[in-house]
Amino acid sequence: MAKKKAEGYLSGREARRISKENRRITNEFEKQRKRKNVPESEYLTQMRDPNNTVEFDNLHTYFFTDAGTVKAVDGVSFDVPIGKTVGVVGESGCGKSVTSLSLMQLLQRPQGQVVEGAIRLNLGDKAYDVTKMPNEKMQNLRGNFMSMIFQEPMTSLNPVFRIGDQVDEVIALHHGEGKTKEQIAERTIELLEMVGIANSRGVYKMYPHELSGGMRQRVMIAMALACSPRLIIADEPTTALDVTIQAQVLDLLRSLKDKINSSIMFITHDLGVIAEMADYVVVMYAGRVVEKGTVEEIFHNPAHPYTIGLMASKPVVGKQVDKLYSIPGKVPNPINMPNYCYFKDRCEMCVAGCEGEYPHEISLSPTHKVTCYRYYDKTDKGGDR
Ligand SMILES: Nc1ncnc2c1ncn2[C@@H]1O[C@H](COP(=O)(O)OP(=O)(O)OP(=O)(O)O)[C@@H](O)[C@H]1O
Ligand SMILES: [Mg+2]
Repeated sequence: MAKKKAEGYLSGREARRISKENRRITNEFEKQRKRKNVPESEYLTQMRDPNNTVEFDNLHTYFFTDAGTVKAVDGVSFDVPIGKTVGVVGESGCGKSVTSLSLMQLLQRPQGQVVEGAIRLNLGDKAYDVTKMPNEKMQNLRGNFMSMIFQEPMTSLNPVFRIGDQVDEVIALHHGEGKTKEQIAERTIELLEMVGIANSRGVYKMYPHELSGGMRQRVMIAMALACSPRLIIADEPTTALDVTIQAQVLDLLRSLKDKINSSIMFITHDLGVIAEMADYVVVMYAGRVVEKGTVEEIFHNPAHPYTIGLMASKPVVGKQVDKLYSIPGKVPNPINMPNYCYFKDRCEMCVAGCEGEYPHEISLSPTHKVTCYRYYDKTDKGGDR
């Protein structure tokens, strides 16, 4: 076998070997997924807690690339309770989007694959495991049961079709049976009004480029809500908007959530938005959850050194500082993760145990969990804090 010339560089032979091996692995996964007439019993499952809409359970999502296997999500577990908002935060590249794309089964395939774990969806009378569902069944859930609001509306709206036609299409696809064209158009206009577009009949006939960024984002939200989904996944839905529009969009999401009692999984870098929107917070680092808890626990009592750093780096109005705090160092290479705590090399609070293998989760309260050696002996001496 050809030797690696230097760290990060592969010989042509080695790259070919990897790509052949990748094809073998991903073909196997694809074959499973593309099967027709898969019996429901194969993906039927049971929720751990019936009060959850979604349960991520030890999810592993890898990308089999020619440079090696990227472990984008490497053992993520958290719940999204019914009617609640869960905020997901973490550094760029830590696997937030890949987690939500795994849930929607919208990973870039064939290289992106869920290789282990379960994502349980609560459909009311039964529960499905998304990771075992074939493509054809997944189609019915997207849009109906759950929908996603993407970061950049211009890339999700088709520039050559009028807004009205695009929203009509979504409604016709999922709830169009027995409805006339006029009835569908009325529903579209109603939805556009619901998301706060004043001139809804005018906008119905416009093309995406004729709208402002905020209006386009509202159209995206209208499309996502067209079928009253039980779960809304919002992946940085307001980053492209100015702050006043951002506040309006957040208000809108919140009121719509309450109206149809759905759950929101909210992905963002903005801790202010999390504080305002979320009931629970999940902090991710390098493909893993390092801390999770209620919004009060995470903001008032952050436990993981990464979360503490994250809180310290957020600007506070009225507080004089010379320089904003930034966490030193960078995230480890996802192709070659260390076998100890992934944050150790950047951590300023290391304790003796940190030399050991990746830490396991410690309960600080029934809702507050952290993966860090600093809390090990506290639990050894008598359980939760
Ligand atoms: N199609 C792909 N092929 C290979 N690697 C990918 C692919 N998509 C994502 N990744 C890798 O997966 C990891 C997680 O990416 P992800 O998009 O989930 O990050 P993120 O937390 O959403 O970051 P951001 O905050 O910047 O949106 C990254 O290391 C990224 O390089
Ligand atoms: Mg992302």
